[in-house]
Amino acid sequence: MTKYIINGSNPLHGEVEISGGKNAAVAIIPAALMVDGVCRIENLPQISDVTTFLNILKQMGASIKMVNKRTVDIDCSNVGTTQATFGLMRRIRASYYLIGALLARFGSADVAMPGGCNFGSVRPIDQHVKGFTALGATISVSNGILNAEAANGKLRGASIFLDVVSVGATINVMLGATLAEGNTVIENAAREPHIVDLANFLNSMGADIRGAGTNVIKIRGVERLKGGFYSIIPDQIEAGTYMAAVAGAGGRVVIKDVIPKHLECIYGKLREMGVTILELEDSIVVQRMNPLIRTHIKTMPYPGFPTDMQPQLSAILSLAEGTSTVTEGVWDNRFGYVDELCKMGANIRVIGRTAIIEGTQYLTGAPLVAGDLRAGAALVIAALCAKGQSEIEGVSYIERGYEKMINKLSALGADIKTAYMPEEASFSAREVV
Ligand code: EPZ
Repeated sequence: MTKYIINGSNPLHGEVEISGGKNAAVAIIPAALMVDGVCRIENLPQISDVTTFLNILKQMGASIKMVNKRTVDIDCSNVGTTQATFGLMRRIRASYYLIGALLARFGSADVAMPGGCNFGSVRPIDQHVKGFTALGATISVSNGILNAEAANGKLRGASIFLDVVSVGATINVMLGATLAEGNTVIENAAREPHIVDLANFLNSMGADIRGAGTNVIKIRGVERLKGGFYSIIPDQIEAGTYMAAVAGAGGRVVIKDVIPKHLECIYGKLREMGVTILELEDSIVVQRMNPLIRTHIKTMPYPGFPTDMQPQLSAILSLAEGTSTVTEGVWDNRFGYVDELCKMGANIRVIGRTAIIEGTQYLTGAPLVAGDLRAGAALVIAALCAKGQSEIEGVSYIERGYEKMINKLSALGADIKTAYMPEEASFSAREVV
């Protein structure tokens, strides 16, 4: 088992390159199932969620050739099954995108109910089911397997109003509708950058999708998609995480290979906290020299403040002068990391969906356990800011979504390393005991 060892209180300096987007990659990889020919996908992030998804496709019969560490050739011409390997699927949430892709291509799908981050509350898929049912599919779930069958073996276009702004449902319905008979309109659609990236990928393969990035998406179903190549957008949340790390630990860093527009919803709050932000063409310069100031945040679907940056901002707000509030507007409950921050001396109370954060002078290093991907990132940031040493377990969560975090942070002057330890020596094991 590995853990991160971090000695905090070193300001960060230098440059960091942002990798391809996790939430774009895990939507585009299954979409390759719908393409008749080779898809060359570039700027892939080197993270375990991508490896898992490529293995799922490989086990379904796809040809997967890594051209280099960031480029893969995927050819699903020989995939003949509608069944995806259940074990692997439970490791990631986005495995449910296989429903849309398999239904679109084969008119049928047998997919294990998805895994992914546990926010302590159920993550429903009713809007996905609503969308597929409107497209003419019959859905049933038994023994943890979701089966979907399109009437007459082919989906047909429809108008769908999503009751909730859902990234997953917008993407899944978009996948299904791409090869459906006729036109589809998705209203109250989510607008995240990775939805636009998927639509651009599909359109580059011959689809006809308009309006991605707005709350109304129009799709004219096409007969087939041909092969081609596509480069994935930079990861908005990885960039935001490094911006928060600099804001917390202090220093000056150039965040490179980003789309600044995607980060406005994040750095607007950092500016309110007294952080200096300079927007360049494909980079952002982040500098913090003065003490952080409190602010108020409410997470919302894009272009609102992203929920996937909420834990990271709460970590640095625990060091801001004054009282801040952080309200979770997307997930029922996403404050599982708060107890870990309080172990470091943070003063945070959670009432309903709001965390009330009293700024404190400093945090101290502690033994910590990451409970999910972004909670893990928040603990790394808190440890970078803290006095003394922290040890973080559960780093496999972090490596699901962050490429080479240790290398990138070390290059910025952070004192961070990986340590290997026998399972029984882990905090969580001791705690259990
Ligand atoms: C995507 O999850 C992201 N995951 C999440 O990021 C992110 O937190 C979330 O969108 C919101 O931005 C991926 O892209 C792989 P939703 P998803 O459907 O699609 C409710 C990370 O850290 N809802 O937009 O699962 C739901 O309960 C991960 O990278 C329904 O009620 O999220 C939630 O309250 C964690 N019924 C809200 O909508 C449905 O059928 C948003 O969920 C679907 C969703």
